[in-house]
Amino acid sequence: MKILVTGGTGYIGSHTAVELQNSDHEVIIVDNLSNSDKNVLDGIEKITGIRPEFEEFNLADKKKTADFFKRHSDIEGIIHFAAYKAVGESVEKPLMYYRNNLFSLVNILQGMKDNHIPNLVFSSSCTVYGQPDELPVTEKAPIKKAESPYGNTKQISEEIISDTIESSELKGIALRYFNPIGAHETAIIGELPIGVPNNLMPFITQTAAGIRESLRVFGDDYNTPDGTAIRDYIHVVDLAKAHVVAVERMVNQKMKKDFEVFNLGTGNGYSVLEVIKSFERSTGEKLNYKIVGRRPGDVEQVWADTQFANEELGWKAEKGIDEMTLSAWKWQQSLKEKD
Ligand code: UD1
Repeated sequence: MKILVTGGTGYIGSHTAVELQNSDHEVIIVDNLSNSDKNVLDGIEKITGIRPEFEEFNLADKKKTADFFKRHSDIEGIIHFAAYKAVGESVEKPLMYYRNNLFSLVNILQGMKDNHIPNLVFSSSCTVYGQPDELPVTEKAPIKKAESPYGNTKQISEEIISDTIESSELKGIALRYFNPIGAHETAIIGELPIGVPNNLMPFITQTAAGIRESLRVFGDDYNTPDGTAIRDYIHVVDLAKAHVVAVERMVNQKMKKDFEVFNLGTGNGYSVLEVIKSFERSTGEKLNYKIVGRRPGDVEQVWADTQFANEELGWKAEKGIDEMTLSAWKWQQSLKEKD
């Protein structure tokens, strides 16, 4: 199948392009390289032996996107990752986030309608649940008011997709990711945050590598066993594989509804201190960290009920926390070798 991967040179997109090619799908990537590098294409080629087709432009550009779809109406499925994702930045620059994340989605849906490409997999987030009332959180849990414009773009995007599906022949699957971490086992591709990382895992690996002095653990006064916040960390390769399953489910017409939503997590919650311990155990490195105050906007604890994804998709996350933290470290070390 020919699959369009938007944002395919980014962190999750690149791992998904690899898994698609490993499953014999043809991949075409569109990315404007606003938060990634073209040499990721070399990495994908090195791992799979195939260089995906690539076009560099901004999907928020209506004309360019319409022209792209006209030239590629043989695409069978789309996995849409391309979006801004920094929570703090979205609070500072909401219009930039709404313009980029929502216009690009609208342009893609228009291109799909105009060219009769029915299948969309959308990259959503567990952020839509906020602090859930019940744990583990199922797909039926209520959507809470978003904590940030970034989170709001995920909620609104799901609504835009759902409304468009109601009135057309389009079909969609929204995948709500919990916390993707880790890197490909070859350490050829991984997460490449530009500047100071916001997320826990890249901050840990950069601290251990001596790029940052010390990790700040945001809060140890949460109502959790060790007081630090709990998340459901999932290996990015497990996550990538779920996208292959989802797009195949759509194209092979196995969907039960025209718009389906799945949680993608492991079902296990780990506290910040447990992630640090896993990192130290799996790598043998000692991590310099200190406890500081809570980070505004953080929820206390969230982890996924994975039953629906496990049963309906026939997919299950396989890699454990030590494998995640070790692969993130190997990737960090490979970056040093590239310098
Ligand atoms: C964050 C976003 C979420 C988004 C996801 C995508 C917030 C509030 N949420 O998730 O909406 O979908 O990224 O990347 O930003 N931590 C530290 N020290 C650090 C960094 C993080 O203690 O330097 C802690 C956090 O407080 C949290 C955990 O580590 O408890 C995970 O944080 P992070 O990796 O930033 O992910 P989320 O906040 O869960």
